[in-house]
Amino acid sequence: MTTNNKELVVEKIDNGTVIDHIPADRVFKIVKILGLDTYEDEVLIGTNLCSKKYGKKGILKIKNKYFTQDETDKIAIIAPTATIIVIKDYEVTEKKNLVLPKHITKIVKCINPNCITNVEEIETNFDVVNTDPISIQCHYCEKTMEEIIFNE
Ligand code: CTP
Ligand code: ZN
Repeated sequence: MTTNNKELVVEKIDNGTVIDHIPADRVFKIVKILGLDTYEDEVLIGTNLCSKKYGKKGILKIKNKYFTQDETDKIAIIAPTATIIVIKDYEVTEKKNLVLPKHITKIVKCINPNCITNVEEIETNFDVVNTDPISIQCHYCEKTMEEIIFNE
């Protein structure tokens, strides 16, 4: 919707989820971990947008999609400052700030190839030992990781 020659306003969505206040350098990582690169409905991606609070921010608007707790935890790990806005029939029905869980199970992979979770069919389990920057420790092999690898 064009309002004048200088301004282009991104339209509101009827149903779906808006992920706002994403650090600009994490937008495409969020796109990837949520599998939005192969999502078949409308996705609006904004990055390097000006924000008073965060400097440069990113925003994603995903039509007809609501995220599970596991997906929400993945977003919290990558972009803890993000806000999840649930839209139903054009109205904001829920707005939540993300919370980094204290324990992370199954969604993250242990980087130690010898860890039992990589050898046997055992769900991973990590303690979050530091939040910013994030650092997690494997419950089984005690390996500490700063780089997070998600399970598919
Ligand atoms: N939004 C949308 N479609 C809707 C309603 C809202 O895409 N039907 C988007 C808005 O563009 C905005 C976000 O959801 O990016 C939050 O909407 P709202 O709470 O109405 O906006 P603000 O009050 O400006 O939010 P804030 O001050 O928290 O940034
Ligand atoms: Zn391990």
